[in-house]
Amino acid sequence: MKTTLSIIKADVGGFPGHSSVHPALLKKAGEELEAAKKNGKIKDYFVARCGDDIDLIMTHDKGPDNEEVHKLAWDTFLACTEEAKKLKLYGAGQDLLSDTFSGNIKGMGPGSAEIEFEERASEPIICFLMDKTEPGAFNLPIFRMFGDPFSTAGLVIDESMHAGFEFEVYDVMANKTVTLNTPEETYDLLALIGGKSRYVIKKIHARSGKVPKEEAVACVSTDKLSKIAGKYVGKDDPVAVVRCQSGLPAVGEALEPWAFPHLVSGWMRGSHNGPIMPCSMEDAVPSRFDGPPRVVALGFQVANGMLGQPLDFFKDVAFDKTREKSSEIAEYMRRHGPFEPHRLPSEDMEYTTLPAVLKKLEGRFTDL
Ligand code: 13P
Ligand code: 13P
Ligand code: MG
Ligand code: MG
Repeated sequence: MKTTLSIIKADVGGFPGHSSVHPALLKKAGEELEAAKKNGKIKDYFVARCGDDIDLIMTHDKGPDNEEVHKLAWDTFLACTEEAKKLKLYGAGQDLLSDTFSGNIKGMGPGSAEIEFEERASEPIICFLMDKTEPGAFNLPIFRMFGDPFSTAGLVIDESMHAGFEFEVYDVMANKTVTLNTPEETYDLLALIGGKSRYVIKKIHARSGKVPKEEAVACVSTDKLSKIAGKYVGKDDPVAVVRCQSGLPAVGEALEPWAFPHLVSGWMRGSHNGPIMPCSMEDAVPSRFDGPPRVVALGFQVANGMLGQPLDFFKDVAFDKTREKSSEIAEYMRRHGPFEPHRLPSEDMEYTTLPAVLKKLEGRFTDL
C-alpha cells in the first residue's frame, strides 16, 4: 500500500504579533489530529510550528489532494482560529480566506506540500518549514540538493544519480508549468528559477528509475496568498518535503545547502529582503524586525505509514556559524532602512501604504 505524506500549513493567529504560535493553538491542533488518528482518518501526525505558522504533518493512504484529509486540516485550522479569537491573537484566522470548505484546501489560504510513494526498505524524509518568506525561497536550496554537484556529492559519486532529475517549475504569475531536465538543461532551469518571485520549483522526480519515476521525491508548497486574496494577507510562508538516500540526496546533502544563509523576500511586512536563518523549532521565533526569516528541518524515518518522532536537524551546533553569518547579514541589510535592495522593488511590494502614498501624491506630480 502506498503512503502519503501531507504537510498542510496556515497562520491562524500570531503570538504576539507575528512571532510565534500560542501553546493553546498547538494543543488544540494536536487534539483534533489525535481524534482523526483514533478514528482512522489519518495514520500518524506531528504538529509542528515555524514562527507564527502551524504545520500539520500527516501520513495516510488516501493520496494527495484528498478531500477528507484537506477537510480535516481546514477544520483543525478553524478550531485553532476559535482559540485565537478568544485570546485575541494577532491576525486570528489570517490565512483562512473563505467561510466554507470547497473540497480542496488549494486556493483557500493554507499551503500544502504532499507526496505519495511506495515505502522503500528505509524511507528517510525531511520536512522543511519556513516563516517570513515566500515559496521561491526554496529554489536555491532545492536546486543545490538535486542539481549542484559542488553541494551534493552523490551527483558525482553515486552512478545512479548521473541520470539526473526532472524539475517541475511553476510560473505563478502566468499560471503555467514547465518541466526541465538536469543536468542537460541546467542553464535553462537556472535562468528561470533565479527569478524566484515568479518561477518556483514545485516538484522533483528522479530520472534513474531507482525510485519510480511517477513518485515525486520532493514537493514545495507554492500557494501565493496575495494572488488568491487579491491583496496582501501575510506572506506565503512555504513548506517542502524531501525524500533522501538510495539514489536521492543523502540526508546530509539535503541539509548542506542551508549552511549558506541566502537572501529571501519577506521579513517585515512581507516587504524586505533578508537572510534565511536555519534554526530549531524552539528557536523559530522571528523577533528582530519580525525576522530574520526562518527555516526549520524535521527529519522522519517513515515506517509502515507511521511518522514517529522527528529529529530537529538545525539544533546542530554545526549551523551556529550560519546563524551568526545570518545575523551579520541581517544587520548589514537593516542599515539600508527603507532603501532597496533591503526593501523589495516597488513592483514586488505587497503590503505597505505605498499605493496609498502614491495616491495621496497623485495631483502633485507635474510633467518634466
Ligand atoms: P498592522 O498595520 O495591523 O499593525 O499590521 C502590520 C503587520 O504586522 C503586517 O503584517
Ligand atoms: P506572516 O506572513 O508570518 O504573518 O508575517 C507577516 C508580517 O507582516 C510580518 O511583519
Ligand atoms: Mg502572521
Ligand atoms: Mg508566518
